[in-house]
Amino acid sequence: MAESAELILDGKSITLPVIEGTEHEKAFDIGKLRDQTGYVTLDSGYKNTGATKSAITFLDGEEGILRYRGYPIEQLAEKSSFLEVAYLLIYGALPTEAELAHFSGQITKHTLVHEDMRKIFDGFPSATHPMAILSSLICALTGFYPQSVSPDLSPEEMELNIIRLLAKMPTIAAWTYKNNMGHPLNYPRNDMDYCANFLYMMFSFPTEKYEMNPVVVSALNKLLILHADHEQNCSTSTVRLVGSANASLYGSVSAGINALWGPLHGGANQEVIEMLEAIEADGGDTSKFINKAKDKNDPFRLMGFGHRVYKNFDPRAKIIKVAADEVLQALGMQDSPLLKIAQELEQAALTDQYFIDRKLYPNVDFYSGIIYKALGIPTEMFTVMFALGRLPGWIAQWKEMRENKEPIGRPRQIYTGELERDYVGIDARA
Ligand code: CMC
Repeated sequence: MAESAELILDGKSITLPVIEGTEHEKAFDIGKLRDQTGYVTLDSGYKNTGATKSAITFLDGEEGILRYRGYPIEQLAEKSSFLEVAYLLIYGALPTEAELAHFSGQITKHTLVHEDMRKIFDGFPSATHPMAILSSLICALTGFYPQSVSPDLSPEEMELNIIRLLAKMPTIAAWTYKNNMGHPLNYPRNDMDYCANFLYMMFSFPTEKYEMNPVVVSALNKLLILHADHEQNCSTSTVRLVGSANASLYGSVSAGINALWGPLHGGANQEVIEMLEAIEADGGDTSKFINKAKDKNDPFRLMGFGHRVYKNFDPRAKIIKVAADEVLQALGMQDSPLLKIAQELEQAALTDQYFIDRKLYPNVDFYSGIIYKALGIPTEMFTVMFALGRLPGWIAQWKEMRENKEPIGRPRQIYTGELERDYVGIDARA
């Protein structure tokens, strides 16, 4: 007999079907609850609400497990390439050699952006954050490819939009930086792989030969893989919610970029480095900042610590911590004062009862900024790097939602405002 749950409400018994996932996660299906009882469920921040069924990423926060399409993140980070992982997330299987060659060939063909894009950069005030520019320009792609907004895309059209987005985002991201710096914009180099081409566009100058450092390319590849998907996080849920209204892929991803920018989400990677720099500037006393984080009258939080789902450890943070050591060693930066402060902070927090009681561990953002900094990526671009990595996940989740014909997302609420009252003319108001 199929498992179900019984809810007794006002003396009436309601049967709630139980839904079970392939990893035996269970949920009550409350889809008909309001019709049956007049009640809705309330769960601020969706702490205990499954918004969808998804076959893309599995995450077990208690055990510290993360798998893309069944493959452990540890194996993918060690053995795979970012484009291969992108293919895996979007199409569900690791590509054959021919499939990967076709996929990356298609992406390579679309790396250029329309020349009019360059003019849009001129309209942004110089203080504009790169995430604002990135999200605007990704949305602007709808203007260059108007058919992309159609709710009835053929599989071929959907595929073309996906390829275009994967291909153009590194160009747009690198140009965002170059434009902010007042440097000439570099056109993509189609003889380079995805990560190398991005680094080339970011750091090369027409006046000199750019020496590609394989340590840097490999570190970037790993970081992007680690960020590639994380099931129904804030930005991905945003992408799905916006897309559920039949909004375009570009529009949905643009919205996801804004969600990611928030300091409690992807924006934390910029905040971590700024925090470490502030600790260094303050003399390097980590205990002072640990105490600030524990003080309930102080809004300060230890950035890069804590996670809504991981309550044991973040498997991505484990991999990144080792990678940070390796990269800094390989680049001769092992004496980085920021790395030392980060290690001290982590050690202090992990042995402090406040953090132990609340199961607060370093998350993916804690060490990623240290690597990005070592790779020469400017701090303001850190969250853009996260967005580059998360792009295949957003695409895969948007595509899955569309293909499953999910209904428009529309949560309910419990109204706590005024009861009905009559309009009062302005002269009669107190
Ligand atoms: N420093 C100090 N205290 C913290 C921290 C922190 N970083 N994170 C959580 N707490 C405390 C919080 O004050 C609360 O304490 P109490 O129970 O006494 O009120 C308790 O831990 C639970 O926190 P919460 O805010 O209810 O937990 P949440 O699941 O709603 O928030 C979080 C998760 C990631 C937003 C939060 O841990 C945080 O703000 N961390 C810092 C920002 C950060 O690093 N974000 C990146 C997340 S990982 C990358 C990504 O996928 O976005």
